[in-house]
Amino acid sequence: MHLDRPPAFMRRFIHCFDVLILNTGHHWNMGKLNANRWVMYVDGKPNEDKKRDEIGNAKNFTVHSIVRWLDSHLPSYPHLKVFFRTISPRHFFNRDWNTGDTCDNTTPLSGGSEVMQDGSSDPVIEGAVKGTKVKILDINSISKLRDEGHISRYSIRGTTDVNDCLH
Ligand SMILES: *[C@@H]1O[C@H](CO)[C@@H](O)[C@H](O)[C@H]1NC(C)=O
Repeated sequence: MHLDRPPAFMRRFIHCFDVLILNTGHHWNMGKLNANRWVMYVDGKPNEDKKRDEIGNAKNFTVHSIVRWLDSHLPSYPHLKVFFRTISPRHFFNRDWNTGDTCDNTTPLSGGSEVMQDGSSDPVIEGAVKGTKVKILDINSISKLRDEGHISRYSIRGTTDVNDCLH
């Protein structure tokens, strides 16, 4: 994982894009990192900064790096609009994705129809886009109201014991 390097597709195709929507979140955890045997790199070398080794700091560093890179390139692509989307909310009833938990509600807005909070739900993304031309696309709070919207176990490869209550 090159934390300070924009993804190859972005460097290669930025001149083709009209709208670019980035997002990240759910996969920033030590379980995924270890299972995939990912190693954090900064400046082309394995990361030696112990604080940056902490997954939350690594994510923050990466989000800031990508936004800075994009903001510095945006003047060359005046038609390009860039958004950083906040994370999709988890809708498991009680526990989490790997415990057989469900999100079987089928009634829209059964938990209310209003977002009561004013600020963004993601201080990392909000902090990174501040003062740049990258805009925050804050879908998190509003999507919390739509827990009936998941494909859950009804996807083609779905099984009864694993429910997708994230996407
Ligand atoms: C995230 O990174 C930025 C830039 O390096 C830093 O200013 C900020 O304090 C960091 N935020 C957190 C929550 O660590």
